[in-house]
Amino acid sequence: MHKSAITIIALLFSSLTLTAQDDMDKFVSALMEKMTVEEKIGQLNLMPGTSFTTGEPKDNPLLQMAAEGKLGAVLNMSGEKNLKILQDAATRQSRLGIPVMAGMDVIHGYETVFPIPLAMSCSWDMEAIEQSTRIAAKEATADGICWTFSPMVDIALDARWGRIAEGSGEDPFLGSCIAQAMVRGYQGNFGKQNLMACVKHYALYGAAEAGRDYNTVDMSRIRMFNQFMPPYKAAAEAGAGSFMTSFNIVEYVPATTNRWLLDDVLRKGWGWNGFVVTDYGSIDEVAAHGLGNLTKASVMALKAGTDMDMCSGGFIKTLSQSLSDGNISMEDIDTACRRVLEAKYKLGLFKDPYRFLDAKRRATDIYTPEHRRFARQMATKTFVLLKNEGNILPLKPQGRIALIGPMADNGANMVGTWAPMAKRSRVATLKETMEQRLKGKAQVDYAQGCNFTSDPVLQADGGAWIAAPWKNADTLMVEAISVAEKADVIVCAMGEESEMSGESHCRASLEMFDAQQHLIEQLLKLGKPIVLLNFAGRPTVMTWEQSHIPAIMNVWFPGSEASDAICDVLFGEAVPSGKLTVSMPQATGQEPLYYNQLPTGRPMGENAQRFHLYKSNYLDVRNDPLYPFGYGLSYTTFAYSDITLEGRTATVRVSNTGNYDADEIVQLYIHDVEASISRPVKELKGFRRIHLAKGESTEVSFTITDDMLRFYNQQLDYVLEPGDFEIMIGPDSNLKNLKKTILSITDDTNQ
Ligand code: BGC
Repeated sequence: MHKSAITIIALLFSSLTLTAQDDMDKFVSALMEKMTVEEKIGQLNLMPGTSFTTGEPKDNPLLQMAAEGKLGAVLNMSGEKNLKILQDAATRQSRLGIPVMAGMDVIHGYETVFPIPLAMSCSWDMEAIEQSTRIAAKEATADGICWTFSPMVDIALDARWGRIAEGSGEDPFLGSCIAQAMVRGYQGNFGKQNLMACVKHYALYGAAEAGRDYNTVDMSRIRMFNQFMPPYKAAAEAGAGSFMTSFNIVEYVPATTNRWLLDDVLRKGWGWNGFVVTDYGSIDEVAAHGLGNLTKASVMALKAGTDMDMCSGGFIKTLSQSLSDGNISMEDIDTACRRVLEAKYKLGLFKDPYRFLDAKRRATDIYTPEHRRFARQMATKTFVLLKNEGNILPLKPQGRIALIGPMADNGANMVGTWAPMAKRSRVATLKETMEQRLKGKAQVDYAQGCNFTSDPVLQADGGAWIAAPWKNADTLMVEAISVAEKADVIVCAMGEESEMSGESHCRASLEMFDAQQHLIEQLLKLGKPIVLLNFAGRPTVMTWEQSHIPAIMNVWFPGSEASDAICDVLFGEAVPSGKLTVSMPQATGQEPLYYNQLPTGRPMGENAQRFHLYKSNYLDVRNDPLYPFGYGLSYTTFAYSDITLEGRTATVRVSNTGNYDADEIVQLYIHDVEASISRPVKELKGFRRIHLAKGESTEVSFTITDDMLRFYNQQLDYVLEPGDFEIMIGPDSNLKNLKKTILSITDDTNQ
């Protein structure tokens, strides 16, 4: 397009946005002129929801708050009937009729549940991830919700941390792409079927020491900006409407009261202009961090740039007095109130407070066949085939198949953590679906085989509200062996319970549970082919399994369409294409384990065969992961040519050399050979998901931009330092699988 045409369009666009901004400013200013201090503080108050539809709503405290203009928003309450009662109180009974916002943890779908976010990241499919959030938004808005506490973009390096399940893994570049795709999908253009996104947990929540939830975080700013901040920044740049503060401290100050974090970095540094909400009760927790009581914490939070208080009641109870005492100014309250009102304006709630309360939509827009079809297809893209010796997979739909394990007839547990609206009881189990799909072709014999673990307390704690009943271990084993003896092939459906990952569910050992391993040992003695389907919300240590079991596929928690998706891949109707977005360790003691590590002064290098004295390594385990970041097999095979480099464009030819049409995820890594600070051994800087028919090949090119070479230096300037950069392209992050070349950047080529 001609340059002047672009300029005119840009001008038109900016003048339109300026007009819209102007209209919003005028509207909000006029409204705020009418508001009392209490009403302004009321807008900063977010409270847990309740159900009015079963009880007598009249004296309900939440309704009273809404009617008195003391409630800005509500969380985790859904349903048109329910929310309409609340919206009526806010808009028809309160003095100024300001609508409330309804927020919810719509994390991986609504009633149609997609795989857990960690699994979805393994698809490396940005369009599909964006579409999944679009569908989630459509379903949630059909049920009265207009704000989601998603995406969670916390980089997580430690698999012990249960919330690794909710994020996109260990890589800042991939994490940033996913963060943006999710914000786009949820928010669209803020239409009737869009949700406002809330980026969480700002910041560094995933860096909790020892992988223990809510634990201390301490890191240098260089590391923050290079490794942990990029996804938050990317989400801010994508226009996310809100951010949530994290529970942890950042530089010894809780994120919620951290002015540097909220004001200097997020607002001034990144130019972001949405509103900030705390995590659940975070203002109250400031006292436990040792920085002062609720009154003081509320003052610090407001002054730091927190606008809305989730469920601690600190703002509503104390800000008015703090204003009289002169500890905060009217401007502090006005600033926060304006930001919250702007969010409501952007959502269109002032034009129509009942915009998301359309009674007809529940029947047509939720858990539709189309959404379910998409979720099933999405799930097939998230499975990571870790081993497939002798091409056991895909299985032929014939003979006798023994389906064994605590996940084999367990629909509720396949959904995964953080799916508050899932109707778990209607999720078909693997046994049911397999029996139905193989009817007339193969015989499926089922046995549970074992409990999840040999420890009933752990099983109950990890089961949370969907605990699996405890059964006699000996009886289970006898049943399993008798079923397996008759089988041609054994499929083991094993792993963690759904709630063994997610918030507050951390593990100090990542191995498969003893009861399951013991059962596999017994099954192996029968000498039959075994396929392990591993259900997990985090990397599992499977060193023993890797050396004993011929086929292993990580299926994570696939969501409401789990059983169909698993059967699709198991029987070859879909070809696995997922690649790991987290390194899977050989031993728990390697954690935190991540591929983009710094070299150290005594580097061990990759793929070492044995221990080396005075090098950075362990006596008992090699440094490498069992399965590296980016790894995942297919039913076909791919070959990569060497790289040809023309200017800044690196090209490889990728060929499908096997027997299946399939998708491949081509990955680009870069290493800055010499710089003013130590730089990671390699960093992902590009990827492409391509489809190749069997026998087909194609060229894949990456143009190396300045941005791919830049980093934050010791002064925290974002710089490109000329010199040599190793360019690596291949199917995963292991050096032995990557093609390499050198790109030299001189001052002249530095654009
Ligand atoms: C979690 C958040 C969540 C919030 C509201 C907190 O416990 O940390 O991720 O959005 O609850 O449910």
